[in-house]
Amino acid sequence: MHKWKIPQEFINELLVRTNIVDLISSKITLKKIGNNYQSLCPFHHEKTPSFIVNHTKQFYHCFGCKANGNAIDFLMNYEQLNFLESVEELSILNKLNIPKKYDKKFNTYNLFNKNELYLILKKICNIYIHTLLQAKSKIAYQYLIKRGIKKEMIERFSIGFCNNQSNNVIQYYHTINQTEKNHLIKLGIIIDNLNGKKYQHFRNRIIFPIRDKYGKVNGFGGRAIDSYITPKYLNSPETIIFQKRKQIYGIYELLKKNPKPKKIIIVEGYIDVIMLTQYHIKHIVAILGSTITAEQIKFLFRVTDNIIYCYDGDKSGQFASWKSLEISLPFLQDNKSIKFIFLPNGSDPDSIIQQEGTVEFQKRIDNAINFSEFLFSKLLNNLDLSSIEGKAHFSSLIISFINKIPGQIIQFYLRKKLGLTIGILEIEKMNLIINKKNKNKYIIKKIKQTPMRMLISLLIQNPKLSKLVTSKITTINLPIQGFDIFLKLVHICQKNPTYKTSQILELYRDTKIVNILRKLIIWDHMIISEKIKNVFLDLLTKIYNQMLEKKYQLLITKERKKGLNINEKKELWSITINLSKISKKLL
Ligand code: UTP
Ligand code: MN
Repeated sequence: MHKWKIPQEFINELLVRTNIVDLISSKITLKKIGNNYQSLCPFHHEKTPSFIVNHTKQFYHCFGCKANGNAIDFLMNYEQLNFLESVEELSILNKLNIPKKYDKKFNTYNLFNKNELYLILKKICNIYIHTLLQAKSKIAYQYLIKRGIKKEMIERFSIGFCNNQSNNVIQYYHTINQTEKNHLIKLGIIIDNLNGKKYQHFRNRIIFPIRDKYGKVNGFGGRAIDSYITPKYLNSPETIIFQKRKQIYGIYELLKKNPKPKKIIIVEGYIDVIMLTQYHIKHIVAILGSTITAEQIKFLFRVTDNIIYCYDGDKSGQFASWKSLEISLPFLQDNKSIKFIFLPNGSDPDSIIQQEGTVEFQKRIDNAINFSEFLFSKLLNNLDLSSIEGKAHFSSLIISFINKIPGQIIQFYLRKKLGLTIGILEIEKMNLIINKKNKNKYIIKKIKQTPMRMLISLLIQNPKLSKLVTSKITTINLPIQGFDIFLKLVHICQKNPTYKTSQILELYRDTKIVNILRKLIIWDHMIISEKIKNVFLDLLTKIYNQMLEKKYQLLITKERKKGLNINEKKELWSITINLSKISKKLL
């Protein structure tokens, strides 16, 4: 395995090129207030804005939940990406290729590998698309037509065919180099059996390319055209670019037409997406698997405020609806809504739209059931509310669900509904019980303000202050706690005079002190900008003197106990002179 690392200079370059204000305002609405930009915090629920983006520091932070960081952190937290994926996303936005550097310790080979995998999948996808249109693939084309799928949809969703007779992919395989061959095997396109014979994973299947929001093909779904073949559907295996729990089929096609859809309807199957779209029902996507995952719902709620689940009208569809409700509750902010469409037994979206047409299906959407109705009716099922035990049981059950919802207004209405349902008039008392668990969610430990922390804080917030730190200070050899951190920061700032707060912070990612640095970056000193320099110098002097004092005490003690050598005597002498200067100054 190759060991590659992304050069730190490149990460720095990304931060230089990315204006955090532009990046964040492409995702949420920012309002300019003085030197800062402000908004409701995207990381916690609030009614008055405490989320600040600072252009000079290239840094964001929230006074409420204390979320903070640079552009990379923002993507990691807002888009739920890991570090490498965030770097990748910033590279795409800046139209830069990620360079690689050999490093024994690192293993980010996967990341560089990713681009190669995307390229090769795109190539394969085109082969499948092309194959479907060949005369040899007539049965496949006819299968689609028989199912009612029009040419326009075949094009829009880039549907293809993996023809075992024409073997286009195997032919392609023999034209590429060994690395690319390995990629095709890893991606599950080609299977290499024990005799060394190659065959195609998706042979004789209709191919549905699964794309990410950028339109990059991440993997495929394949449907058998012969009814006796099992399984009916095959997916690409899990790889670094295809994770079923994150994939959303149809998202690219949807966002291309409408980047900010009012609602998104979630169905189970590829063909459901295609057929509803063909019938002019907009905003349809499918999940690959039986129920939605937390990753998918987080993503979808970034794109839209209203989610409607429309699973198949069978046992597993009903179960999926209930599971989806449970999984969705923790993401239900006050501006979000979740609804359900329950189809008649035995039908799925594909069959029912062909049966009843657009107008009738649109009615189903308009009459979709609100999640609260579903929640109450499901939990009330089989419970006897005429007894106290029944009421208590129901209340405790439903409270555990209500408490999962971050939206305070939604919670309020649900509690009210609960009071009405069980006939409790003292709903205020009830609220007290319910609310207990939710308190103190955002109280974060404050760190003590010491002069050293203050000094570091001022420096990292104003890197230009490093110019004021002279060698007299950087060469002193008795560090008090935190002084080594300060010196390192001074060194970084002096060496890189253009660095902003965000770039300095980046150098500390994955270190032990990054969390404390984050806190120091957002300390609000309430010092007017003209005074910052003086406060910094005062602090520096104070700490310098403290160190001299400490060293002096140490040397004196040593002299009494063991005596001092020549150098130590010299040092003691110079400290004594320095200290007397200081005390004279004070007088
Ligand atoms: P369904 O069995 O409901 O298929 O599976 P469908 O969408 O109605 O398909 P047609 O109409 O029979 O062609 C729904 C989804 O579940 C996954 C697929 O993603 C499919 O689209 N699935 C289903 C599998 O992954 N494997 C299977 O064997 C079956
Ligand atoms: Mn179907």
